[in-house]
Amino acid sequence: MNQLILGDNLEILKHLKSEDIDLIYLDPPFFSNRDYGAIGKNANEIQTFSDRWSGGIEQYIAWLKERVLEMHRILKLTGSLFLHCDWHAAAYIQVFVLDKIFGRANFRNQIVWKRTTTHNNAKQGAKQFDRVCDFIFFYNKEAKLAKFNPLYENYTASYLAASYNKQDEYGRRFKVSDLSAPKPGGNTSYLWKGIKPPPGRFWAFSLKKMEQFEREGKIYYSKTGKPYLKNYLDDMSGVGIDEFWSNCRFKTQEERMGYPTQKPEALLERIIQCASEEGNWVLDPFLGGGTTAAVADRLKRQWIGIDQSLQAITISKQRLQKQHSIFSMSLELNNKT
Ligand SMILES: C[S@@+](CC[C@H](N)C(=O)[O-])C[C@H]1O[C@@H](n2cnc3c(N)ncnc32)[C@H](O)[C@@H]1O
Repeated sequence: MNQLILGDNLEILKHLKSEDIDLIYLDPPFFSNRDYGAIGKNANEIQTFSDRWSGGIEQYIAWLKERVLEMHRILKLTGSLFLHCDWHAAAYIQVFVLDKIFGRANFRNQIVWKRTTTHNNAKQGAKQFDRVCDFIFFYNKEAKLAKFNPLYENYTASYLAASYNKQDEYGRRFKVSDLSAPKPGGNTSYLWKGIKPPPGRFWAFSLKKMEQFEREGKIYYSKTGKPYLKNYLDDMSGVGIDEFWSNCRFKTQEERMGYPTQKPEALLERIIQCASEEGNWVLDPFLGGGTTAAVADRLKRQWIGIDQSLQAITISKQRLQKQHSIFSMSLELNNKT
């Protein structure tokens, strides 16, 4: 059963079964030396959580490390962990927590999320570039066994206009690519329709394959008769998503729950889609305003959300109940304080 649990995540994690969870996303306090409050514009300020560490970075890292150790234990061998942080402690977290617990060989990406636009602080005298990015470390429990679904996004209108600028007789849009190659691959110096490969180059495909392309109508001839391969837009998946994420923003004002440091659902959608399947177990031990649970629920994953703040659990519960009737399985609320 999906679960919202109120309490310190260390104690709760210790009671979860080993090798049982497919995906963990954690967005812990960032070592920012701040207190976070103010839920709702006109609400009296309620402190939701404090990110102050009298023992400095050593205390913070020790606190995080004992929790990540438990997370590592409960992850399946095929599972993955995404740890969200920012410049305050990113380097310490990678070296002293993640590399130590997961091993360098299981590091996959340092995702850079551009969370805000530039403020032009340098114009006001700041002697540095604006800090506009957070970092999300992506580790597998066992790189060799891990599962990963590549993600794609739509081409931009300007790219489409510039590249997919041709149409065939059926109205299918395509772009063309070179049919020659710098190195020979077998007998690839043949004449194709009386044309030799360009000087110093070879055909990129065998004669048999070229004949197949021709039968399938996949060869485009320029005015001079030079052959090119047609790449149809409707055969393409889109642009492969890389590790720089600049367009994961709140889609509507309604999505904003007013929880301080709340992350956009678009960010969690990518994480959950690339590293889990329907029916898998997703855990967020620092749930905050419930973003991970709401997205996991919508994407038909099973989930556990933990937070030590009553405000966080209350907001998450309201958020989930709103979408409950449409999407989710039943939900259990546990108070472990
Ligand atoms: C940065 S916020 C998470 C925001 C969340 N990702 C969202 O989209 O709303 C961090 C959360 O961790 C919680 N937290 C801090 N220490 C905790 C602990 N030891 N156990 C459980 N929750 C904790 C805080 O109450 C806070 O809600």
